[in-house]
Amino acid sequence: MMLNRDALIAAARTAQGAAYAPYSNFHVGAALLFADGSVVTGANVENASYGLALCAETSAVAQAMNRGLRGGLVAVAVIGSMAGADGPVVTPCGRCRQVLNELAQLGGTDPVIWCVGAEEVLELKLSALLPHAFGPANLG
Ligand code: THU
Repeated sequence: MMLNRDALIAAARTAQGAAYAPYSNFHVGAALLFADGSVVTGANVENASYGLALCAETSAVAQAMNRGLRGGLVAVAVIGSMAGADGPVVTPCGRCRQVLNELAQLGGTDPVIWCVGAEEVLELKLSALLPHAFGPANLG
């Protein structure tokens, strides 16, 4: 299953190319790696009603869920930048951390999150980004 970090980042970068972000011009791509080796990606999808924007990570999780995946999330790569320019590291927004946690907790994993910037890749576990998370286990 071991797809390497750079390959997952490349998948996120490719996904970023599909971003629909005419309002912010901030294009984000996310790639999810699963234990079986599958990779599912997403990009942000904005709306003329600005507050309805969907983040790349949320799009990717929805895509994975629609493919029947329910856990096994081992790694995530996120990259975002203003159109045409590489910028600072992007960490998932608060809502996306919660959305990622749902998929992770379903399979009992604590995925590594690679937050990609022009100069560096910040590596964090989801549990560090969202400590003491509320999730499906709380409702069981
Ligand atoms: N965005 C993401 O896709 N993921 C994040 O983690 C942060 C923000 C998107 C939402 C919006 O379309 C644009 O970036 C600017 O906030």
